Amino acid sequence: MEKKRILTGDRPTGRLHIGHYFGSLKKRVEMQESDKYDSYILIADVQALTDNFNNPEKVRKNVREVAMDYLSVGIDPKKTTIYIQSMIPEVAELTVFYSNLVTIARLQRNPTVKTEIAQKRDLFGESVTYGFLGYPVSQAADITAFEGELVPVGEDQLPLIEQAREIVRKFNNIYGKVLIEPQAVLSSGKRIKGLDGNEKMGKSLGNAIYLSDSEEEITKKVMSALTDPNRIKKDDLGNPDICMVAYYHNLFSTKEEVKTVCEECKGGKRGCVACKKQLAKNIIEELRPIREKRAYYEQHPEEVDKILMEGTKKAQKVAKDTIKRVKKAMKLDYET
Ligand code: TRP
Repeated sequence: MEKKRILTGDRPTGRLHIGHYFGSLKKRVEMQESDKYDSYILIADVQALTDNFNNPEKVRKNVREVAMDYLSVGIDPKKTTIYIQSMIPEVAELTVFYSNLVTIARLQRNPTVKTEIAQKRDLFGESVTYGFLGYPVSQAADITAFEGELVPVGEDQLPLIEQAREIVRKFNNIYGKVLIEPQAVLSSGKRIKGLDGNEKMGKSLGNAIYLSDSEEEITKKVMSALTDPNRIKKDDLGNPDICMVAYYHNLFSTKEEVKTVCEECKGGKRGCVACKKQLAKNIIEELRPIREKRAYYEQHPEEVDKILMEGTKKAQKVAKDTIKRVKKAMKLDYET
């Protein structure tokens, strides 16, 4: 049976946290273990520059951080090709070709782009850059350069995949059927709320637990998590439904533990500090293998770089093959 190509990626703008872990990383590791799929993961440094063009150091530094996060959760470079976007020039070429196949109005209507522009007022002010507005075009190039059939993403990315599908259909209509129309696979992973109860966990919100956090950092963060604000003294009856500690117990503790903790909270029998300590211990234990694997790679950065270069080399071959067929279809095949 022909394996289906899976293509995913992340912008390297920060280390990955438990939100990424439950939202997409676990699923990627699971799919990598199935012989139905052939997985590619790109570290989207060019895309990261679209909203960090003024901070190249940050992007550069986080390419290796994200690679280490991948390796530490069990992305296996023998099974999954990890590569760096900027080292695939064909992606930039395809982006230029595709830019004729999408209107400015269509990009401005893209809900993901719209939301992001609104969030990035600090950077863009009243007028967004051509590069940022066009990043869905570049993402269509990311996917099609590798004949990505399945793209596991969170809900927020769906409009980008839809946009890529439109570009592919238009291309195939005009130039002949060369490109594969990708399909989004909603990663069934959960979206994890932040320690402060915010719907989103993120660096800018300062409410994330990173896969690379030390035991002390994890404990400190859990101690600061939002609990039922009406519960002031230990004897007060608590409401676990509005407590982030109870929320994370559900993710990191056994069913029995969750039951005990919630019952004792509701009965005013257990204080928040004891409850948090138990949670911190469980998170520390669950993330221990990840942290230890990561520590290994932190001490062996040359191994990480080698993995990235080997993955990128493999990816370059695939993209070269695609661009050849694309250029032929577009009558740009001058070389004989
Ligand atoms: N836009 C994705 C994000 O912000 C990253 C990304 C770039 C991507 N290219 C991709 C995801 C191709 C899936 C497929 O997380």
